[in-house]
Amino acid sequence: MELINNASLKPFVTFGVEATCDHLYRVDEIDELRLAAQYLDSPLVLGGGSNILPIGNINKSVLRLELKGFEIVKEEGPDVLVKVAAGEVWHEVVMWAVNQGLGGIENLSLIPGTIGASPIQNIGAYGVELVSVFESLEAIEIGTGQVKEFLKAECKFGYRDSIFKNEVRGRYIITAVTLRLKRDYVVNTTYGSIQDVLQHKGITHPTIRDVSNAVIEIRQSKLPDPKVIGNAGSFFKNPMIHSDHFDSIKKTYLDLPGYPDPSGHTKIPAGWLIEKAGWKGKRMGDVGSYDKQSLVLVNYGNASGEEIWELAQKIIASVQGLFDITLHPEVNLWK
Ligand code: EPU
Repeated sequence: MELINNASLKPFVTFGVEATCDHLYRVDEIDELRLAAQYLDSPLVLGGGSNILPIGNINKSVLRLELKGFEIVKEEGPDVLVKVAAGEVWHEVVMWAVNQGLGGIENLSLIPGTIGASPIQNIGAYGVELVSVFESLEAIEIGTGQVKEFLKAECKFGYRDSIFKNEVRGRYIITAVTLRLKRDYVVNTTYGSIQDVLQHKGITHPTIRDVSNAVIEIRQSKLPDPKVIGNAGSFFKNPMIHSDHFDSIKKTYLDLPGYPDPSGHTKIPAGWLIEKAGWKGKRMGDVGSYDKQSLVLVNYGNASGEEIWELAQKIIASVQGLFDITLHPEVNLWK
């Protein structure tokens, strides 16, 4: 374990904003983590820093999880259960699975961040969410240092949501995640843009690798690379609105996209709302809404967390004024 006092978080958050924390603990041993979990007062937990916006300096301790390791724990017919330590990089896990011919997470290629963070918001993209391959996770309770296992049902996964964002928020540190991958996986190409890429390449019977490559291509064409332009992917969640509300907006905006669900609500792409409100590609100093995907807020250089949050609030206000829809951040705000 390494301890850095008054540490800069800039290299550890993909938004690339300057912010310090009182103490940064880089932890690569589970026993040290258990000790730290017992003695630190409400530490914040950092994985790949790809879904966090620090707003100002953080007067707290931050634990950066650098636990590594992969293990096939069980094979059940065509199913392979793989236990992965929290600090492993998500995309590297996907590439490992693709190379092994194990299906289930290829649609989640190139999502930034670590595997330990993946259950917190039930990461999802191109028609697949983590929940569909999730088996269980191990976590350490802050305060006691005790280890607890969470099975799928206990995690209460939803759209970009889980128990770790609600009932037990800030109470556990996820140390390992077990995935159920499949040797006989039938690929999921329901998402329109995956079909377009495959068709363009003349691929009629896509393999796991073909789907992974298609997703990588789509993401690279639309989303900014955090190593080049600071960002944290989608800044807001896609809002769910009542179908009556959807119908009333649709009278004015015939091109309004929406995905109805059985509860009588419709999910609207926040990117569409932000674009219609005039923010797509807009830049104010070093912050902006990305020109190829307006849902992504970007740091073009030396933006501060406060400036990014200021832009986010302006976007929230104009979408509210225009459509009477409240956007909620998808990224975690650290204050
Ligand atoms: N759209 C616009 N203008 C924009 C952006 C999007 O009109 O500037 C509309 C279009 O109608 C487009 C639709 O939004 O067809 C959907 O766009 P996209 O496929 O890019 O998906 P999204 O709903 O904007 C979500 C996830 C992404 C994920 C993609 C693909 C959320 C908050 N975001 O974005 O996740 O990669 O679907 O599945 O659910 C992330 O979480 O960081 C992230 C990038």
